[in-house]
Amino acid sequence: MTVGFSGDVAEYYARFRRGYPEQVLDALAEYFALDPDDLVLDLGCGTGQLAVPLASRVRSVIGMDPEPDMLRLAREAALRQGVGNATWVLGADSDVPALGALLGRAPSLAMTVVGQALHWMRHEDLFRELLPLFRAGGGVAVVANGTPLWLQDSAWSRALRMRLERHFETELTASCGTAEQDRLRYARTLEAVGYADVRTTTVSYDDELTFEELIGSLYSAIPANQLPPPSRRPAFADGIREALPQEERFTEHVEVSVLLGRVG
Ligand SMILES: C[S@@+](CC[C@H](N)C(=O)[O-])C[C@H]1O[C@@H](n2cnc3c(N)ncnc32)[C@H](O)[C@@H]1O
Repeated sequence: MTVGFSGDVAEYYARFRRGYPEQVLDALAEYFALDPDDLVLDLGCGTGQLAVPLASRVRSVIGMDPEPDMLRLAREAALRQGVGNATWVLGADSDVPALGALLGRAPSLAMTVVGQALHWMRHEDLFRELLPLFRAGGGVAVVANGTPLWLQDSAWSRALRMRLERHFETELTASCGTAEQDRLRYARTLEAVGYADVRTTTVSYDDELTFEELIGSLYSAIPANQLPPPSRRPAFADGIREALPQEERFTEHVEVSVLLGRVG
């Protein structure tokens, strides 16, 4: 179990964390030539942002995550949406060799997608351990879902960051694997361990958040042991509301980057 995404954080994640535009799923389907007979793994699947919509494109999806609360909510989302070909497995990147043993000798995975989660994993070991599990043309997709709310290039985002830095008494610089240098590091590792045709595709769009969506999304990104307790959340939210420009909606420019590599 991870402390970061348990309890209320998982609930906020399921309700408020942005999903992925259809073009991201199209890019994955095209690059790996996904077909209705394929099996894919979504590692660090969270509440199913990628696993659930991917399910309609393949035979079966395995959603794997070490946090039981995230996994439970992913499963519930799948059931609500009538997705009957997803299997939810409690496990971390270090459990990939055990998954490989379950899958057997014939390489059977068309893709392993890691959305917004690789920065918690030993990525070099993971890329290497996944290699023998892929069918021809299968491989890894590392998806970064835009810049964190408090690191964006806008007045409201800068104000949010200042307010949060004052509250948590720390500088907030971690890009959670979304920065260009993270992507380049992952790309170099993919090539070094033997993946071919390593490339990046980017999907950009503008989104508008209400304050409720902004604060819900923010709560989904605060580690569970630092999330203000329910009784203090209204005051915390008021403090943030006062610090932000007095706008009804907050525009964010979202750039989803998809780093791809496959076996020859
Ligand atoms: C920010 S969420 C991403 C969820 C979803 N993939 C998405 O794109 O929105 C990160 C997820 O990674 C999971 N995680 C953390 N450490 C992990 C590890 N070592 N192996 C696999 N998943 C991990 C967390 O439990 C959490 O559900």
